[in-house]
Amino acid sequence: MSLFRKKSLEGMLAQAADSEKGLKRTLGAGNLIALGIGAIIGAGLFVRTAAASAEAAGPAVTLSFIVAAIGCAFAGLCYAEFASMIPISGSAYAYSYVTMGELVAWIIGWALIMEYALGAATVSIAWSEYLNKLLGGAVPYEWCHSPFEHINAVTGAAIGQFPADIAKAAKEGVLLLTDEQMKVLPETLKSLVATHSGMVNAPALVILLILTLLLIKGTQESAIVNAIIVFVKVSIVILFIALGWQYIKPENHTPYLIPEGTPGHEGFFKHGWGGVLGGAAIVFFAFIGFDAVSTAAQEAKNPKRDMPIGILGSLVVCTILYILFGHVLTGVANYTEFKAAGKEASVAYAISTYMVQYKWLATAVTVAILAGFSSVILVMLMGQSRVFYTMSNDGLIPKAFGELHPKFKTPYKANMILFVFVGLFAAFVPGSVAGDLTSFGTLFAFVLVSIGVWILRIKSPGLDRPFKAPLVPIVPILGAVICLGMIVALDGQTLKVAFGWMAVGLVVYFAYSRKKSKLNN
Ligand code: ALA
Repeated sequence: MSLFRKKSLEGMLAQAADSEKGLKRTLGAGNLIALGIGAIIGAGLFVRTAAASAEAAGPAVTLSFIVAAIGCAFAGLCYAEFASMIPISGSAYAYSYVTMGELVAWIIGWALIMEYALGAATVSIAWSEYLNKLLGGAVPYEWCHSPFEHINAVTGAAIGQFPADIAKAAKEGVLLLTDEQMKVLPETLKSLVATHSGMVNAPALVILLILTLLLIKGTQESAIVNAIIVFVKVSIVILFIALGWQYIKPENHTPYLIPEGTPGHEGFFKHGWGGVLGGAAIVFFAFIGFDAVSTAAQEAKNPKRDMPIGILGSLVVCTILYILFGHVLTGVANYTEFKAAGKEASVAYAISTYMVQYKWLATAVTVAILAGFSSVILVMLMGQSRVFYTMSNDGLIPKAFGELHPKFKTPYKANMILFVFVGLFAAFVPGSVAGDLTSFGTLFAFVLVSIGVWILRIKSPGLDRPFKAPLVPIVPILGAVICLGMIVALDGQTLKVAFGWMAVGLVVYFAYSRKKSKLNN
């Protein structure tokens, strides 16, 4: 049997249409746009905007958002064509199965685990960090960090005994020392330092469990909770834009691009137009998620019409909000300040430093961030379980992943297994590991979906396409090239881990999936 054996499009459509046995069709266009926004607005906006402007783009981070959005729009148009034509829950995996064959489909399914499962794990770790911030550090270090993390902390009056140049780094009554600093510290000072090791990231586990239970309860229930969360986070983003507008200082926006020769901005991707591109690679993470809408295709009431609306609509809404948000954030505070002013708390910093009248908004932003993270996790977990569901129906992974709950009609076993897998990761692995792998998995899927649209146009030009991506093949080619470019721009370490993961996937395929595939029978 060939490695490139394909599923027939007719068979796939019949499978999707079999609503008696399958998932329930409960979602309308509004739900789908909300699902998209739910997955899109999160750490990317609230954390990476300031990072991209401080490191690479300056005030022109608004242009970085536009560049990243253009890249996503090409891929988004291709997703929309596929999702309206093949309304099945496997998304990129399923589209590849009909266009490029089983091996490519498997590879993409395996890469999607990096996007959705690792994405959910990463964001749940960030959720835990923000929760602790909101609670004023009430969760002990041991209970909200992985065993691979530790801190060396000095508190209270003891800080005064350290040399002034070290002590000045103390924040809010705590001085943190690096391991290098510890090595050269005299014994007398060492005894003042308490080293805490992480044990388990309990809050991350709790949020994953709650959202898993919600997903098992029902897609419609999950969509309602998602809609409420989206309302909260979008309202606070709009509030920040509206209130912050009057605090914009034009001098913070001049010059708009970081000038050549600015110290610390020597590389090509760190100033000028190159910096805009460098910034785009950083904020790309903020757009990840619109593709997850396509995994809900089998639960959409009218996928032919509503899939393109959900995918492209959520992308448009978020792009507009992002540009305005970036404009206000870099106008209220100068981009250079974000180098030092806690990247992850940049928005709260800008508000509490320059919009003192609106200090409450800083707390509201933290609540919006927590809410935002929750919906990102929710939709990622949902997307992953739907991809597993479809892969299981095809025989490539065990049957349990495809079993529906007798009453709720959700893939509850997939959700439970996923909770264990994502939970182990979130509980015991540091958050810094997974962020860029999420981008890799996503970009990889974007490339194959773009190419797939073109292939299917050539091979089956006569198929009913309720939504057609414009200017084929230019749009798919540009989509693939831009996304490939962003993959190349990821750092070497990320690429090594990603290829290692893909290699494991190939072993699993040849040892198990290839033999169990339904196409064998
Ligand atoms: N786009 C999602 C976020 O920014 C993944 O958190």
